[in-house]
Amino acid sequence: MGITYNAETQQFHLFNDRISYLMKVLRNNQIGQLYFGQRVPDNEDYSYLVEESKRPMSSYVFEGEYGFSLEHMKQEYPSHGSTDFRIPAFEILQPNGSRITNFIYKSHQIYSGKSKLAGLPATYVENDDEADTLEIVLCDELINVEIILKYTIFKNFDAIARSVEFKNCSDNTYHIMRAMSLSLDLPDADYDFVQFSGWWSRERYRKDHRLAQGIQSIGSLRGHSSHVHNPFIILKRPNTDEAQGEAVGCSLIYSGNFLAQAEVDTFNVTRLTMGINPFQFDWQLKSGETFQTPEAVLVYSSSGLNALSQTYHKLYRTRLAHGIWRDRERPILINNWEATYFDFTEDKLINIAKTAKDVGVEMFVLDDGWFGTRTSDTSGLGDWWANKDRLPNDVKGIAEKINALDLKFGLWFELEMANKDSELYRNHPDWILHVPNRRTSHGRNQYVLDFSRIEVVDYIYDLVAKILRSANIEYIKWDMNRSITECYSVAYPAEQQGEIFHRYILGVYDLYERLTNEFPHILFESCASGGGRFDPGMLYYAPQAWTSDDSDGVERIKIQYGTSYVYPVSSMGAHVSVTPNHQLFRNTPLKLRGDVAYFGTFGYELDLSKLSDEELAEVKEQINFMKRYRNIIQHGTFYRLKSPFDGNIAAWLVVSEKKKTAIVGYYKVLNDICSEYRRIKLFGLDESRRYEVSIDDKTVLGTFSGSELMNIGLITTDFSAGESSREEGQHCTDFWSRIYVIKMAE
Ligand code: DGJ
Repeated sequence: MGITYNAETQQFHLFNDRISYLMKVLRNNQIGQLYFGQRVPDNEDYSYLVEESKRPMSSYVFEGEYGFSLEHMKQEYPSHGSTDFRIPAFEILQPNGSRITNFIYKSHQIYSGKSKLAGLPATYVENDDEADTLEIVLCDELINVEIILKYTIFKNFDAIARSVEFKNCSDNTYHIMRAMSLSLDLPDADYDFVQFSGWWSRERYRKDHRLAQGIQSIGSLRGHSSHVHNPFIILKRPNTDEAQGEAVGCSLIYSGNFLAQAEVDTFNVTRLTMGINPFQFDWQLKSGETFQTPEAVLVYSSSGLNALSQTYHKLYRTRLAHGIWRDRERPILINNWEATYFDFTEDKLINIAKTAKDVGVEMFVLDDGWFGTRTSDTSGLGDWWANKDRLPNDVKGIAEKINALDLKFGLWFELEMANKDSELYRNHPDWILHVPNRRTSHGRNQYVLDFSRIEVVDYIYDLVAKILRSANIEYIKWDMNRSITECYSVAYPAEQQGEIFHRYILGVYDLYERLTNEFPHILFESCASGGGRFDPGMLYYAPQAWTSDDSDGVERIKIQYGTSYVYPVSSMGAHVSVTPNHQLFRNTPLKLRGDVAYFGTFGYELDLSKLSDEELAEVKEQINFMKRYRNIIQHGTFYRLKSPFDGNIAAWLVVSEKKKTAIVGYYKVLNDICSEYRRIKLFGLDESRRYEVSIDDKTVLGTFSGSELMNIGLITTDFSAGESSREEGQHCTDFWSRIYVIKMAE
């Protein structure tokens, strides 16, 4: 791994053993993009990659610079309006109304390791030899502003982290109207744009479109990354699949309004940009101030989408998530939400916890409804003290009772919101985001607190910290149940209203930072009406996130499959809930629900005391299975094998780091009859070793070499291929699943 700068050619090369990223100072002294892809030699002059052919008729040049037009240049951080007409990476509004700039190379520094980004979540290293960083300083002398382009290349990951800092060295005040975290001009447009989009309860469905001349983009203007789109896209070659082919991933470590965009120009150059959504963004930069963008992470794969995802999984699991829970197996929990909703007493909760303890659960989580006057969603939000009718001995009392059962205790909060019927709102009506004299809309009867104001964040911090200090709380579910409307802060002047969306998220990060620092032993799980803020920004503080409110076994296959394109299994909150399912009203076997939830952090979201003895015995078995294998599932290498977006059957696989154990989850949504013979090729095994394969960790299917399992495949033909019998367990049903456990023979 290294970063080199050739003073003669003014070329920068960031590389590790597998990837290269090349740039150079162009002849107008701006920075040009040369190449991002598989590793190329370091000691070459790649200046020939600056293609300057100025097409006739429509090119604009400066006097004395004939033959050079930015319109035809592949650039690193382009501006608009000065010979380039494409969408720029940034815009700075100057006092005279101009947005024209000319940022040219001034200096650079290269250092080992990686610096922190002030106030923002970002990837990190534990030792300086894990990564090298390049910072290129650009300056526009006329306005005396600097732009610092930051690049980190990792030794063990095929990833480049990028961000940008703006520095106002002048006496003027400027407005940054657009500040993307990265811009990358790729030399052709032969790509599919892959996005992960949906809605509440169908988050992160994979959707592919072929790039075409024009603009393809996704984003959020909802104040959170959202259920609708995720801040992650892949540009893949049309023939790239899970196992082979070229792909570039781009993921933004940010939880607010974002934009991910690919603009294909008329010469088939693709300009990829990603960052804070510029819509209504307007950041006032006063003399001496700096502005730091969130970090974006580019990943390159020459061997398919599984490899691309695995890079993100490992990078985000080990060098984005942090804290003591990062590397630990996650506790198997029971959450009372779907078991009771708001209708509970302490005794009822303790009963659920007791049954849960009997079957092997490790943690009880008390969800919404334990505080203030919160007995429905119409009141109490914002009043973070125990409701004594429900918890007569405070949070401490119930925590002690749960601990006495030898269970950990976890608690739900929704810290960014208030009901109007709350002490908080009655005392501070101006603490919600609202426009004076206009109606303010609500979502689920709740209003969004103005987290752009430090005093609001301080107030919430004090209340929460007091509770966390008072009782043995080992887990927090941090929920956020609505998008932001009427985004306006009465605490800021007119010229700073374009900052509020971003300042809100900075306030959220500030609160997370303070709480995770003071209570490092607590495991945080983020949540936003299910998966409405499942993003890398949250993952930095909370190593797991509630993947979706939709806990139906069948739906979850798609949701978890889509989520797996960038987020690790260890980050996906996955629970078994009752049937008929509360979102889909579908009946699926307990087995399927467990077989899907294993590929996550695993837990239950139902009243176990209402299950039959037979079902409880099955739950016990599920928990034992998860305890046996969670280390491999949560920390192993994950492969997608068969997509639920393509058909009736889905499958995925995890392989332990030393290739000794592998687990396949195999799901058939609807039963079929006289079906085809089926086999599925596995990955990641040691081809020279033999493996024993068993079904559901019970019935041994046989022993096979790794080579057979990977090249010929695992036979998954099931009873529906003519072997149906009427005996229980000897035929398939709808919503049928199997777990194949594959162990290296000694
Ligand atoms: C939305 C979450 O996604 C649910 O799991 C639950 O915590 C409710 N909020 C509680 O209001």
